[in-house]
Amino acid sequence: MTAGPTWEPVDEVRFLGNRSSGRLGVAIAHAVAARGHRITLLRGPATAEPTPSPHLTDLRFQTASELDDLLHRHWPSHDVLVMAAAVADFRPKRPEGAPRKLRRSDGPRSIELEPVPDLLAGIAEVPHAGTRIGFALEPAEELAAGALRKLETKRLHAIVANPLETMDADRIDGTLMHADGTTLRADRTPIEKPVFADWVVERAVELHRRRIRET
Ligand code: CTP
Repeated sequence: MTAGPTWEPVDEVRFLGNRSSGRLGVAIAHAVAARGHRITLLRGPATAEPTPSPHLTDLRFQTASELDDLLHRHWPSHDVLVMAAAVADFRPKRPEGAPRKLRRSDGPRSIELEPVPDLLAGIAEVPHAGTRIGFALEPAEELAAGALRKLETKRLHAIVANPLETMDADRIDGTLMHADGTTLRADRTPIEKPVFADWVVERAVELHRRRIRET
């Protein structure tokens, strides 16, 4: 399980981040542990601590590149990846010899950004029979089309599609879209994040077991 934002350094003092709270990701980790499965939570900065559990390993990352390293290290020993982390799309370019701290006295400046690789697309290249589930946060009117595009380009087995309004909210109105074209919706949405988290875990376990049976 990955949760929370990435922080990409501008210099040694500042960073570019995003508003992800990681709450849903941590709720999913709790739901997994409560069902007695082993879970590794890759947790971003400023993301609430999970409740300790003998089933849960909590590892920290700050940047997309640190998250990528952790993913490659731990994915081979796991069955299901749920990627809720809000990974940066761009990070400041920091050439060799860049100042450790940008100073106001140096006057106006612009920050050059470079694209961050798509971590899910990268992990799909690793030979592994596991089940990969992504997240898509999209404006409501573009939700289905955007989630479907991400499902395909990231070679996912399923994607949790959330309208943008989910961000910072206590409740969620998400759907789970599968690579075979089926879409599932939790009952009585919008529902509280921990209830939705448990529903996602149940669906993820079901999907993984079905995939393993069919191969
Ligand atoms: N993701 C990723 N690597 C990135 C960016 C996103 O693995 N560099 C993952 C997220 O963790 C999420 C899924 O891809 O599970 C969708 O993320 P999102 O930010 O919605 O999509 P993007 O790939 O960034 O596409 P776009 O910028 O067009 O929305």
